[in-house]
Amino acid sequence: MSAHGTAQPMTARKSSALKGTASVPGDKSISHRSLIFGAMALGETRVTGLLEGQDVLDTAKAMQAFGATVTRHGEGDWSVQGVGVGGFQEPADVIDCGNSGTGVRLIMGTMATTPMTVTFTGDASLRKRPMGRVTDPLALFGTEAYGRKGGRLPMTVVGAAAPKPVRYTLPVASAQVKSAILLAGLNCPGETVVIEKESTRDHSERMLVGFGAKLEVERTNAGSVITLLGQPTLRAQSVAVPRDPSSAAFPVCAALLVEGSDIFVPGVSQNLTRNGLYITLVEMGAEIEFQNPREEGGEPVADLRVRFSGNMKGIEVPPERAPSMIDEYPILSCVAACASGKTVMRGVKELRVKESDRIDAMARGLEACGVTIEEDEDTLIVHGLGAGNVPGGATCATHIDHRIAMSFLVLGLAAKQPISVDDASPIATSFPLFEGLMTGLGADLSHD
Ligand code: S3P
Repeated sequence: MSAHGTAQPMTARKSSALKGTASVPGDKSISHRSLIFGAMALGETRVTGLLEGQDVLDTAKAMQAFGATVTRHGEGDWSVQGVGVGGFQEPADVIDCGNSGTGVRLIMGTMATTPMTVTFTGDASLRKRPMGRVTDPLALFGTEAYGRKGGRLPMTVVGAAAPKPVRYTLPVASAQVKSAILLAGLNCPGETVVIEKESTRDHSERMLVGFGAKLEVERTNAGSVITLLGQPTLRAQSVAVPRDPSSAAFPVCAALLVEGSDIFVPGVSQNLTRNGLYITLVEMGAEIEFQNPREEGGEPVADLRVRFSGNMKGIEVPPERAPSMIDEYPILSCVAACASGKTVMRGVKELRVKESDRIDAMARGLEACGVTIEEDEDTLIVHGLGAGNVPGGATCATHIDHRIAMSFLVLGLAAKQPISVDDASPIATSFPLFEGLMTGLGADLSHD
Protein backbone atom coordinates (compact mmCIF):
# COMPACT_ATOMS: atom_id res chain seq x y z
CA MET A 1 0.00 0.00 0.00
CA SER A 2 1.36 3.44 -0.83
CA ALA A 3 1.04 6.74 0.98
CA HIS A 4 -0.44 8.58 -1.99
CA GLY A 5 -1.83 5.90 -4.26
CA THR A 6 1.08 4.96 -6.53
CA ALA A 7 3.77 2.83 -4.96
CA GLN A 8 7.33 3.84 -5.88
CA PRO A 9 9.66 0.85 -5.54
CA MET A 10 13.37 1.59 -5.01
CA THR A 11 16.46 -0.62 -5.02
CA ALA A 12 19.76 -0.25 -3.18
CA ARG A 13 22.86 -2.04 -4.45
CA LYS A 14 26.25 -2.70 -2.87
CA SER A 15 28.07 0.63 -3.13
CA SER A 16 31.63 1.79 -3.20
CA ALA A 17 32.90 4.06 -0.41
CA LEU A 18 30.55 6.91 0.59
CA LYS A 19 32.34 10.27 0.71
CA GLY A 20 31.42 13.89 1.25
CA THR A 21 29.17 15.99 3.43
CA ALA A 22 25.65 14.95 4.40
CA SER A 23 23.65 18.04 5.35
CA VAL A 24 20.42 16.53 6.63
CA PRO A 25 17.13 18.47 6.86
CA GLY A 26 15.63 20.26 9.84
CA ASP A 27 14.37 18.39 12.87
CA LYS A 28 10.83 17.10 12.38
CA SER A 29 9.74 17.42 16.01
CA ILE A 30 11.00 21.00 16.29
CA SER A 31 9.55 21.93 12.87
CA HIS A 32 6.03 20.83 13.90
CA ARG A 33 6.35 22.67 17.20
CA SER A 34 7.67 25.89 15.66
CA LEU A 35 4.52 26.14 13.50
CA ILE A 36 2.16 25.17 16.32
CA PHE A 37 3.69 27.43 18.98
CA GLY A 38 4.01 30.19 16.39
CA ALA A 39 0.27 29.87 15.68
CA MET A 40 -0.49 30.17 19.42
CA ALA A 41 1.78 33.19 19.93
CA LEU A 42 1.05 36.85 19.28
CA GLY A 43 3.02 38.40 16.43
CA GLU A 44 5.12 36.95 13.64
CA THR A 45 7.30 33.93 14.35
CA ARG A 46 10.07 33.47 11.82
CA VAL A 47 11.32 29.94 11.25
CA THR A 48 14.51 29.04 9.39
CA GLY A 49 15.66 25.53 8.56
CA LEU A 50 12.09 24.21 8.66
CA LEU A 51 11.76 20.63 7.43
CA GLU A 52 9.64 20.78 4.29
CA GLY A 53 8.53 17.16 4.60
CA GLN A 54 4.90 16.24 4.04
CA ASP A 55 4.23 15.74 7.78
CA VAL A 56 5.23 19.31 8.55
CA LEU A 57 3.43 20.72 5.49
CA ASP A 58 0.26 19.06 6.77
CA THR A 59 0.73 20.77 10.15
CA ALA A 60 1.26 24.13 8.38
CA LYS A 61 -2.03 23.63 6.54
CA ALA A 62 -3.79 22.73 9.78
CA MET A 63 -2.50 25.88 11.51
CA GLN A 64 -3.95 27.94 8.64
CA ALA A 65 -7.30 26.18 9.10
CA PHE A 66 -7.27 27.30 12.76
CA GLY A 67 -6.76 30.93 11.67
CA ALA A 68 -2.98 31.47 11.71
CA THR A 69 -1.29 32.86 8.59
CA VAL A 70 1.57 30.63 7.48
CA THR A 71 3.84 31.91 4.69
CA ARG A 72 6.76 30.32 2.88
CA HIS A 73 9.45 32.87 1.95
CA GLY A 74 12.10 30.52 0.58
CA GLU A 75 13.63 27.11 1.22
CA GLY A 76 13.06 26.31 4.90
CA ASP A 77 12.27 29.98 5.55
CA TRP A 78 8.74 30.41 6.87
CA SER A 79 6.72 32.80 9.00
CA VAL A 80 3.65 32.28 11.15
CA GLN A 81 1.34 35.11 12.12
CA GLY A 82 -0.11 33.74 15.35
CA VAL A 83 -3.56 34.26 16.86
CA GLY A 84 -2.58 33.95 20.55
CA VAL A 85 -3.51 31.36 23.18
CA GLY A 86 -7.30 30.82 22.98
CA GLY A 87 -7.48 32.63 19.62
CA PHE A 88 -8.03 29.60 17.37
CA GLN A 89 -11.09 29.64 15.12
CA GLU A 90 -13.04 26.49 14.35
CA PRO A 91 -11.79 24.94 11.07
CA ALA A 92 -14.39 24.81 8.31
CA ASP A 93 -13.35 21.33 7.21
CA VAL A 94 -11.77 18.09 8.39
CA ILE A 95 -8.12 18.37 9.53
CA ASP A 96 -6.10 15.79 7.58
CA CYS A 97 -2.73 15.14 9.25
CA GLY A 98 -1.58 12.70 6.56
CA ASN A 99 0.99 10.27 8.02
CA SER A 100 1.85 12.28 11.11
CA GLY A 101 1.15 11.03 14.62
CA THR A 102 2.99 14.03 16.03
CA GLY A 103 0.89 16.43 13.97
CA VAL A 104 -2.49 14.98 14.90
CA ARG A 105 -1.75 14.39 18.59
CA LEU A 106 -0.23 17.81 19.21
CA ILE A 107 -2.96 19.60 17.28
CA MET A 108 -5.66 17.75 19.27
CA GLY A 109 -3.99 19.21 22.36
CA THR A 110 -3.99 22.75 20.97
CA MET A 111 -7.79 22.81 20.44
CA ALA A 112 -8.84 20.61 23.38
CA THR A 113 -9.48 23.50 25.77
CA THR A 114 -11.17 25.86 23.29
CA PRO A 115 -14.91 25.39 22.65
CA MET A 116 -14.94 24.11 19.08
CA THR A 117 -15.63 20.88 17.25
CA VAL A 118 -12.92 19.49 15.00
CA THR A 119 -12.78 16.26 13.00
CA PHE A 120 -9.33 14.75 12.40
CA THR A 121 -8.24 12.13 9.91
CA GLY A 122 -5.08 10.85 8.27
CA ASP A 123 -3.70 8.31 5.81
CA ALA A 124 -4.18 4.53 6.09
CA SER A 125 -1.20 4.26 8.48
CA LEU A 126 -2.34 7.05 10.80
CA ARG A 127 -5.93 5.73 10.83
CA LYS A 128 -4.63 2.53 12.44
CA ARG A 129 -2.79 4.29 15.28
CA PRO A 130 -4.20 4.68 18.81
CA MET A 131 -5.46 8.13 19.76
CA GLY A 132 -6.86 7.08 23.17
CA ARG A 133 -3.45 7.75 24.74
CA VAL A 134 -4.11 11.45 24.00
CA THR A 135 -7.90 11.68 24.28
CA ASP A 136 -7.94 9.90 27.71
CA PRO A 137 -5.88 12.60 29.45
CA LEU A 138 -7.62 15.35 27.42
CA ALA A 139 -10.95 14.06 28.81
CA LEU A 140 -9.72 15.12 32.27
CA PHE A 141 -9.80 18.75 31.02
CA GLY A 142 -13.43 18.16 29.95
CA THR A 143 -12.65 17.46 26.27
CA GLU A 144 -14.85 14.93 24.45
CA ALA A 145 -13.73 12.68 21.61
CA TYR A 146 -15.71 10.41 19.32
CA GLY A 147 -13.59 8.12 17.17
CA ARG A 148 -13.71 4.73 15.55
CA LYS A 149 -13.35 1.50 17.52
CA GLY A 150 -10.12 1.41 19.52
CA GLY A 151 -9.85 5.21 19.52
CA ARG A 152 -8.92 5.34 15.83
CA LEU A 153 -9.26 8.21 13.35
CA PRO A 154 -11.37 9.70 11.88
CA MET A 155 -12.22 11.26 15.22
CA THR A 156 -14.25 14.28 16.25
CA VAL A 157 -12.94 16.23 19.23
CA VAL A 158 -15.10 18.70 21.14
CA GLY A 159 -12.99 21.22 23.05
CA ALA A 160 -13.88 21.96 26.67
CA ALA A 161 -15.75 25.26 27.23
CA ALA A 162 -14.72 25.49 30.91
CA PRO A 163 -11.54 23.38 31.15
CA LYS A 164 -10.23 22.20 34.50
CA PRO A 165 -6.44 21.84 34.93
CA VAL A 166 -5.02 18.36 34.96
CA ARG A 167 -2.38 16.44 36.88
CA TYR A 168 -1.41 13.39 34.86
CA THR A 169 1.26 10.69 35.10
CA LEU A 170 2.13 9.37 31.65
CA PRO A 171 1.42 5.62 31.43
CA VAL A 172 3.68 5.34 28.34
CA ALA A 173 6.93 7.19 27.59
CA SER A 174 5.56 9.51 24.89
CA ALA A 175 6.60 13.05 24.04
CA GLN A 176 3.51 13.34 21.85
CA VAL A 177 1.17 12.65 24.76
CA LYS A 178 3.17 14.89 27.11
CA SER A 179 3.10 17.70 24.55
CA ALA A 180 -0.62 17.33 23.83
CA ILE A 181 -1.40 17.77 27.53
CA LEU A 182 0.90 20.79 27.87
CA LEU A 183 -0.64 22.37 24.77
CA ALA A 184 -4.13 21.83 26.20
CA GLY A 185 -2.92 23.31 29.50
CA LEU A 186 -2.02 26.54 27.71
CA ASN A 187 -5.66 27.60 27.35
CA CYS A 188 -6.74 26.33 30.76
CA PRO A 189 -6.66 28.42 33.93
CA GLY A 190 -4.41 27.16 36.75
CA GLU A 191 -1.52 24.71 36.76
CA THR A 192 -1.37 21.70 34.48
CA VAL A 193 1.08 19.07 35.70
CA VAL A 194 2.55 16.19 33.67
CA ILE A 195 4.72 13.58 35.37
CA GLU A 196 6.96 11.41 33.23
CA LYS A 197 8.79 8.47 34.79
CA GLU A 198 11.18 8.18 31.83
CA SER A 199 12.44 11.31 30.10
CA THR A 200 11.24 11.78 26.53
CA ARG A 201 12.26 14.43 24.01
CA ASP A 202 11.98 17.81 25.71
CA HIS A 203 11.50 20.16 22.74
CA SER A 204 8.03 21.28 23.88
CA GLU A 205 9.30 22.27 27.31
CA ARG A 206 12.33 24.14 25.92
CA MET A 207 10.30 25.92 23.25
CA LEU A 208 7.37 26.83 25.51
CA VAL A 209 9.81 28.58 27.86
CA GLY A 210 11.34 30.31 24.82
CA PHE A 211 7.89 31.55 23.73
CA GLY A 212 7.30 32.98 27.22
CA ALA A 213 5.26 30.35 29.06
CA LYS A 214 5.84 29.80 32.76
CA LEU A 215 6.95 26.17 32.84
CA GLU A 216 9.06 24.41 35.43
CA VAL A 217 10.61 20.96 35.44
CA GLU A 218 11.44 19.33 38.75
CA ARG A 219 13.42 16.08 38.82
CA THR A 220 12.11 13.82 41.59
CA ASN A 221 12.36 10.13 42.48
CA ALA A 222 9.00 9.66 40.73
CA GLY A 223 10.42 11.17 37.52
CA SER A 224 10.18 14.64 35.96
CA VAL A 225 7.33 16.79 37.20
CA ILE A 226 6.48 19.40 34.57
CA THR A 227 4.29 22.26 35.74
CA LEU A 228 2.77 24.74 33.30
CA LEU A 229 0.86 27.83 34.33
CA GLY A 230 -2.13 28.26 32.02
CA GLN A 231 -3.24 31.24 29.94
CA PRO A 232 0.15 32.85 29.34
CA THR A 233 0.74 35.36 26.58
CA LEU A 234 3.05 33.60 24.15
CA ARG A 235 5.24 35.97 22.16
CA ALA A 236 6.47 35.35 18.61
CA GLN A 237 10.05 34.07 18.34
CA SER A 238 12.76 33.47 15.77
CA VAL A 239 13.30 29.72 15.57
CA ALA A 240 16.40 28.29 13.87
CA VAL A 241 15.54 24.61 13.49
CA PRO A 242 18.58 22.38 14.07
CA ARG A 243 19.21 19.36 11.82
CA ASP A 244 17.35 16.15 12.61
CA PRO A 245 19.40 13.47 14.42
CA SER A 246 16.80 10.88 13.39
CA SER A 247 17.38 11.72 9.70
CA ALA A 248 21.17 11.96 10.19
CA ALA A 249 21.01 8.36 11.41
CA PHE A 250 20.58 7.09 7.83
CA PRO A 251 23.72 8.53 6.19
CA VAL A 252 25.67 7.93 9.43
CA CYS A 253 24.74 4.24 9.52
CA ALA A 254 25.27 3.89 5.77
CA ALA A 255 28.84 5.18 6.18
CA LEU A 256 29.46 2.75 9.05
CA LEU A 257 28.35 -0.18 6.88
CA VAL A 258 29.78 0.63 3.42
CA GLU A 259 33.44 -0.30 3.13
CA GLY A 260 35.91 2.59 2.83
CA SER A 261 33.37 5.31 3.67
CA ASP A 262 34.34 8.56 5.36
CA ILE A 263 31.65 11.25 5.61
CA PHE A 264 30.99 14.50 7.46
CA VAL A 265 27.56 15.19 8.96
CA PRO A 266 27.31 18.73 10.32
CA GLY A 267 25.14 19.99 13.16
CA VAL A 268 23.68 16.78 14.60
CA SER A 269 21.72 17.26 17.83
CA GLN A 270 23.36 15.96 20.97
CA ASN A 271 20.23 16.61 23.04
CA LEU A 272 20.30 13.86 25.68
CA THR A 273 16.65 13.04 24.96
CA ARG A 274 17.52 12.30 21.31
CA ASN A 275 21.06 10.87 21.11
CA GLY A 276 20.59 7.26 22.27
CA LEU A 277 21.45 5.80 18.84
CA TYR A 278 24.81 7.58 18.73
CA ILE A 279 25.77 6.31 22.21
CA THR A 280 24.73 2.81 21.17
CA LEU A 281 26.73 2.90 17.92
CA VAL A 282 29.87 3.99 19.77
CA GLU A 283 29.37 1.14 22.26
CA MET A 284 29.17 -1.25 19.29
CA GLY A 285 32.54 -0.01 18.04
CA ALA A 286 31.46 2.62 15.50
CA GLU A 287 34.11 5.11 14.45
CA ILE A 288 32.31 8.40 15.01
CA GLU A 289 34.12 11.59 15.99
CA PHE A 290 32.01 14.29 17.62
CA GLN A 291 33.63 17.57 16.55
CA ASN A 292 33.01 21.21 17.43
CA PRO A 293 30.30 20.83 20.10
CA ARG A 294 28.21 24.01 20.30
CA GLU A 295 24.66 25.32 20.61
CA GLU A 296 22.43 25.91 17.55
CA GLY A 297 18.78 26.95 17.72
CA GLY A 298 18.81 26.32 21.47
CA GLU A 299 19.96 22.71 21.04
CA PRO A 300 23.39 21.21 21.74
CA VAL A 301 24.87 20.03 18.41
CA ALA A 302 28.14 18.58 17.08
CA ASP A 303 29.60 17.81 13.65
CA LEU A 304 30.09 14.10 13.07
CA ARG A 305 32.91 12.49 11.14
CA VAL A 306 31.90 8.92 10.41
CA ARG A 307 34.10 6.19 8.97
CA PHE A 308 33.42 2.63 7.83
CA SER A 309 33.51 0.43 10.91
CA GLY A 310 34.01 -3.20 9.94
CA ASN A 311 34.44 -4.58 13.45
CA MET A 312 31.24 -3.59 15.18
CA LYS A 313 29.91 -5.96 17.83
CA GLY A 314 26.36 -6.66 18.92
CA ILE A 315 25.35 -5.34 22.33
CA GLU A 316 22.45 -5.36 24.76
CA VAL A 317 20.79 -1.95 24.40
CA PRO A 318 19.68 -0.77 27.87
CA PRO A 319 15.84 -0.62 27.83
CA GLU A 320 15.87 2.73 29.67
CA ARG A 321 17.62 4.22 26.63
CA ALA A 322 14.59 3.49 24.42
CA PRO A 323 12.86 6.91 24.63
CA SER A 324 16.03 8.68 23.48
CA MET A 325 16.30 6.54 20.33
CA ILE A 326 12.75 5.34 19.78
CA ASP A 327 12.72 6.22 16.07
CA GLU A 328 16.17 4.72 15.49
CA TYR A 329 15.56 1.01 16.24
CA PRO A 330 14.80 0.15 12.57
CA ILE A 331 18.15 1.49 11.35
CA LEU A 332 19.95 0.10 14.43
CA SER A 333 18.63 -3.36 13.59
CA CYS A 334 20.22 -3.04 10.12
CA VAL A 335 23.54 -2.05 11.69
CA ALA A 336 23.13 -4.98 14.10
CA ALA A 337 22.73 -7.34 11.12
CA CYS A 338 26.20 -6.24 9.91
CA ALA A 339 27.83 -6.46 13.37
CA SER A 340 29.18 -9.65 14.86
CA GLY A 341 27.19 -11.35 17.63
CA LYS A 342 23.69 -10.57 18.74
CA THR A 343 22.10 -7.20 19.47
CA VAL A 344 19.33 -7.36 22.02
CA MET A 345 16.70 -4.61 21.99
CA ARG A 346 14.28 -4.93 24.92
CA GLY A 347 11.58 -2.60 26.17
CA VAL A 348 10.63 -1.60 22.63
CA LYS A 349 6.90 -2.41 22.42
CA GLU A 350 6.14 1.24 21.55
CA LEU A 351 7.60 0.36 18.13
CA ARG A 352 4.45 -1.63 17.47
CA VAL A 353 2.32 1.55 17.33
CA LYS A 354 4.52 3.77 15.16
CA GLU A 355 3.87 4.52 11.46
CA SER A 356 3.86 0.71 11.17
CA ASP A 357 4.44 -2.16 13.59
CA ARG A 358 8.19 -1.62 13.33
CA ILE A 359 9.20 -4.81 15.18
CA ASP A 360 7.21 -6.87 12.72
CA ALA A 361 8.29 -4.85 9.65
CA MET A 362 11.99 -5.13 10.54
CA ALA A 363 11.77 -8.77 11.58
CA ARG A 364 10.06 -9.87 8.33
CA GLY A 365 12.36 -7.77 6.13
CA LEU A 366 15.56 -8.87 7.87
CA GLU A 367 14.51 -12.52 7.64
CA ALA A 368 13.86 -12.06 3.91
CA CYS A 369 17.41 -10.66 3.64
CA GLY A 370 18.86 -13.78 5.29
CA VAL A 371 19.26 -12.46 8.84
CA THR A 372 18.13 -14.48 11.88
CA ILE A 373 15.98 -12.60 14.35
CA GLU A 374 14.01 -13.36 17.50
CA GLU A 375 11.08 -11.28 18.63
CA ASP A 376 8.37 -11.05 21.21
CA GLU A 377 5.84 -8.33 22.02
CA ASP A 378 8.47 -6.09 23.63
CA THR A 379 11.78 -7.36 22.19
CA LEU A 380 13.77 -7.62 18.97
CA ILE A 381 17.00 -9.62 18.84
CA VAL A 382 19.16 -9.52 15.71
CA HIS A 383 21.85 -12.16 15.13
CA GLY A 384 24.58 -10.24 13.35
CA LEU A 385 26.45 -11.80 10.44
CA GLY A 386 29.44 -9.44 10.44
CA ALA A 387 30.40 -6.70 7.99
CA GLY A 388 29.67 -7.49 4.34
CA ASN A 389 27.93 -10.78 5.14
CA VAL A 390 24.23 -9.94 4.89
CA PRO A 391 22.88 -11.87 1.86
CA GLY A 392 20.12 -9.39 0.84
CA GLY A 393 18.38 -10.23 -2.42
CA ALA A 394 14.86 -9.44 -1.17
CA THR A 395 12.05 -6.94 -1.55
CA CYS A 396 10.97 -5.56 1.82
CA ALA A 397 7.49 -4.21 2.60
CA THR A 398 7.55 -0.69 4.02
CA HIS A 399 3.92 -0.44 5.26
CA ILE A 400 3.69 3.34 4.58
CA ASP A 401 6.62 3.87 6.95
CA HIS A 402 9.43 6.22 5.92
CA ARG A 403 11.93 4.85 8.43
CA ILE A 404 11.38 1.23 7.39
CA ALA A 405 11.97 2.26 3.76
CA MET A 406 15.19 4.18 4.52
CA SER A 407 16.51 1.45 6.83
CA PHE A 408 16.29 -1.33 4.24
CA LEU A 409 17.74 0.91 1.53
CA VAL A 410 20.76 1.61 3.78
CA LEU A 411 21.18 -2.11 4.41
CA GLY A 412 21.05 -2.74 0.66
CA LEU A 413 24.13 -0.52 0.16
CA ALA A 414 26.19 -3.03 2.16
CA ALA A 415 24.45 -6.36 1.43
CA LYS A 416 25.79 -8.95 -1.04
CA GLN A 417 22.69 -8.81 -3.24
CA PRO A 418 20.46 -5.76 -3.88
CA ILE A 419 17.63 -4.95 -1.47
CA SER A 420 14.44 -3.36 -2.79
CA VAL A 421 11.59 -1.69 -0.96
CA ASP A 422 8.07 -1.98 -2.32
CA ASP A 423 7.37 1.72 -1.81
CA ALA A 424 9.83 4.53 -1.15
CA SER A 425 7.22 7.30 -1.42
CA PRO A 426 6.68 7.61 2.37
CA ILE A 427 10.28 8.86 2.70
CA ALA A 428 8.93 12.26 1.62
CA THR A 429 7.15 12.62 4.97
CA SER A 430 10.43 13.26 6.83
CA PHE A 431 13.38 13.32 4.40
CA PRO A 432 12.26 14.48 0.94
CA LEU A 433 15.84 14.84 -0.33
CA PHE A 434 17.01 11.43 0.95
CA GLU A 435 17.66 9.92 -2.48
CA GLY A 436 19.64 12.90 -3.77
CA LEU A 437 21.64 13.24 -0.57
CA MET A 438 22.54 9.54 -0.49
CA THR A 439 23.40 9.26 -4.20
CA GLY A 440 25.48 12.43 -3.78
CA LEU A 441 27.60 10.53 -1.26
CA GLY A 442 27.97 7.67 -3.75
CA ALA A 443 25.07 5.40 -2.77
CA ASP A 444 23.71 3.19 -5.55
CA LEU A 445 19.95 3.78 -5.40
CA SER A 446 17.69 3.31 -8.37
CA HIS A 447 14.05 3.01 -9.34
CA ASP A 448 14.23 -0.33 -11.16
C1 S3P B 1 7.73 12.65 18.56
C2 S3P B 1 7.63 11.73 19.57
C3 S3P B 1 7.85 10.29 19.37
C4 S3P B 1 8.51 9.97 18.03
C5 S3P B 1 7.94 10.78 16.91
C6 S3P B 1 8.10 12.28 17.19
C7 S3P B 1 7.49 14.07 18.88
O1 S3P B 1 6.60 9.64 19.41
O2 S3P B 1 8.39 8.59 17.74
O3 S3P B 1 8.58 10.48 15.69
O4 S3P B 1 7.84 14.94 18.05
O5 S3P B 1 6.96 14.36 19.97
P1 S3P B 1 5.95 9.16 20.80
O6 S3P B 1 5.64 10.35 21.60
O7 S3P B 1 4.70 8.42 20.41
O8 S3P B 1 6.98 8.26 21.42
